[in-house]
Amino acid sequence: MSESEKPAIGVIGVGWVGLVTAGCFAELGHPVWAVDIDERKVAMLNAGGSLPIHEPGLPELVEANRERLHFTTEIGEVLEQARLLFCCVDTPPTYSGDADLSRVQAVVAQLPAGGEHALVMKSTVPSGTGRTIRRDKPDLTYVSCPEFLKEGTAVVDFMRPDRVVIGADPGSEDAADLVEAVYEPLGGQILRTDVASAEMIKLASNAFLATKISFINEIAVVCEEVGADVGEVARGMGLDERIAPGFLRAGLGWGGSCFGKDVSALKKLAANSGYHFQLITSVIEVNELQKRRVVGKLSKHLGNLVGKQIALLGFAFKPHTDDMRDASSLVLAARLLGEGARVRGYDPVAEHRARKLLPSVEFSDSAAEALDGADAAVLVTEWPEFAELDWGEMAVRMANPLIVDGRNFLDPERMRAAGYTYEGIGRASSGTR
Ligand code: UGA
Repeated sequence: MSESEKPAIGVIGVGWVGLVTAGCFAELGHPVWAVDIDERKVAMLNAGGSLPIHEPGLPELVEANRERLHFTTEIGEVLEQARLLFCCVDTPPTYSGDADLSRVQAVVAQLPAGGEHALVMKSTVPSGTGRTIRRDKPDLTYVSCPEFLKEGTAVVDFMRPDRVVIGADPGSEDAADLVEAVYEPLGGQILRTDVASAEMIKLASNAFLATKISFINEIAVVCEEVGADVGEVARGMGLDERIAPGFLRAGLGWGGSCFGKDVSALKKLAANSGYHFQLITSVIEVNELQKRRVVGKLSKHLGNLVGKQIALLGFAFKPHTDDMRDASSLVLAARLLGEGARVRGYDPVAEHRARKLLPSVEFSDSAAEALDGADAAVLVTEWPEFAELDWGEMAVRMANPLIVDGRNFLDPERMRAAGYTYEGIGRASSGTR
């Protein structure tokens, strides 16, 4: 396909996945028409300048492809221009833990009858959603194409996918061929399957990654008991190609908008047909406990936390993003405040979102300011700048140089040499006994 022949692409919903999808398809040479119901967001995107989200590489990509990118609040414009419509609206959890499909349903309701367009589902939906949508709208051409990008490395993940999963049922194969042609230049392995299996691949992949993290976090607890080092254990395990090294970093557990929502949606999907998914239930429980164990590590050294000044380094759920959804800092701050501690913290980019969610926390303009006079620090998010701090000087600033490294990000020996009492997660001598 030469660049001038590249078909126009429609993107519905300009959140994290939608904006990255729009920017990357434009970069590949497609004219992109993207719609969102949020007028302020669309105005911001059309005005140029800063983007609604912090995602490395995305501002440059959007700027470089401005002439191919069109943002609008009118779905009619998108329907006029594009045949392939990538649905990227969010599917947050409902009170019951099931996925809320109301935004997906609103999109489907706006599509005209006649089968001229193809809806390509990127939003994460429970297995069976595509079948229900087609039952209710039989002439709709429907393709499932789940997204596997990670926040913080989203552009690279999109442009260099490990695999592209394309699910289509009888009657939608031509549209699936078009989707395959659009992804072909990216070079990832393409897996063609049915819609229900494609939907399930997405949920199962996130649930498996979350399971790996909870597994290594439980191993970390045992490492502390027996004096082993979880980093070494993970390294040794990861060399076995059946296990693979990724997602074996012990820490405060997973957060973010995806794992919690998708793991819970999978559990509910099973429960709705009468099956109790025991493994997933434990994966969730381990993750919740993991954040709370930090309080025990602090109390081991400080005793009662009432009135103690605790510095949180990082608020975002992971580095290189300003996303605060399900961030470990939210649980930690609430637990520490609950114990009577005073909490102060710093994050290089997430403060504007954190302020709305953490009204009782004091915000600092730098890590050094947060550490001033603190009785202890907790490293919550592994921002590179925290590794580069002058920790010797910080030890002098703190009232008591105690650090709980929630991401095993700092070198324990160097920290001890700089005068710290150092506690990691599953590192030798980080036990709570
Ligand atoms: C996750 C998946 O990794 C993506 O493949 C998927 O597309 C995305 O969800 C989604 O469904 O939209 P994301 O939540 O952006 O991506 O970020 P991850 O890098 O997976 O991190 C999730 C959480 O796990 C973070 O809190 C991170 O700190 C934690 N984590 C990750 C660990 O605690 N240990 C690890 O070894 C890896």
